[in-house]
Amino acid sequence: MIETRTTPAQESSFDGPGAISMSQADFQRIAGRVQEDYGIHLPQAKKDLVYSRLLRRVRFHGFVDFGTYCDHVESVAGVPERTEMLSALTTNVTHFFREKHHFDLLSSSVLPPLLDAARRGGRVRLWSAGCSSGQEAYSLALTVLALCPDAARYDIRILATDIDPKIVARAQEAVYPAAERAAIGEPLLSRFTESEPEGDSFRIAASARALVTFATLNLIGEWPVRGPFDVIMCRNVAIYFGDAAQHRLWQRFTSFMQPGAHLFIGHSERIVGPAEARLENVGITAYRVLQQRDGTGQRPDTKGATK
Ligand SMILES: C[S@@+](CC[C@H](N)C(=O)[O-])C[C@H]1O[C@@H](n2cnc3c(N)ncnc32)[C@H](O)[C@@H]1O
Repeated sequence: MIETRTTPAQESSFDGPGAISMSQADFQRIAGRVQEDYGIHLPQAKKDLVYSRLLRRVRFHGFVDFGTYCDHVESVAGVPERTEMLSALTTNVTHFFREKHHFDLLSSSVLPPLLDAARRGGRVRLWSAGCSSGQEAYSLALTVLALCPDAARYDIRILATDIDPKIVARAQEAVYPAAERAAIGEPLLSRFTESEPEGDSFRIAASARALVTFATLNLIGEWPVRGPFDVIMCRNVAIYFGDAAQHRLWQRFTSFMQPGAHLFIGHSERIVGPAEARLENVGITAYRVLQQRDGTGQRPDTKGATK
């Protein structure tokens, strides 16, 4: 999410004549708000990065310094700017079939019994949490369709959520540059994508789009979702959360899953905190929910309506 991009020299000279300055106190206000609202930890080492990422927002408003920008963000009138600030500070880097070994595990052992259950009238729920522009959710959809081309006939749904409403809107469009076709590969490309008239982009086919429901959701806020989920993918999101937020996130996921359900996390993330005792490792950054000692499964704290 927070990219470690080099700050252009002219933008990091906070104190030069005519420069828009960001004091340590400004940085701490921004870091505090981002931590509180989104769980994202911005260490001191990210100060230059925060400066360069937000400078265009400060200029956009015509403010002369970051202090005025912070005042605006914290005001009632500044609520929409908080979304812009979030978009500027996070990166949405993603691609189709990222960490392919997860999709191999899904195809070989996780999905077949779930799809059999769906064919017998069962309910199957997958969640791409922190879905960015949608490639992860559509990779799940394509994996399901490859195994079960008539998935639409069954009670199979994929929920895809992200905190950033702009990126969720893009994900819903399901249009991607032609360069991303290679990551999908044949035969999925021919079966489940459509070329756009301009020729330099393609769209995920209606059969795959129909399996996915998108929503805006803050993983450290309320979850208006209805579990339980059979598969949760939350990859390359928690890595930027503070320790407490990570512990809580893994714990909350397990409370939305029953024994036997699977959780997939990012390659540089690890399960920490109380959730460790509820999960067994079944592959690279892939986990299965264990039966609890008292024989129970899901904690009944699921609520709301998002399927
Ligand atoms: C690097 S992308 C990961 C996309 C995809 N999961 C993958 O691994 O390719 C991280 C995404 O997490 C989202 N994000 C950051 N903080 C979040 C939060 N508190 N709740 C939900 N999503 C969040 C960002 O908006 C961004 O789209």
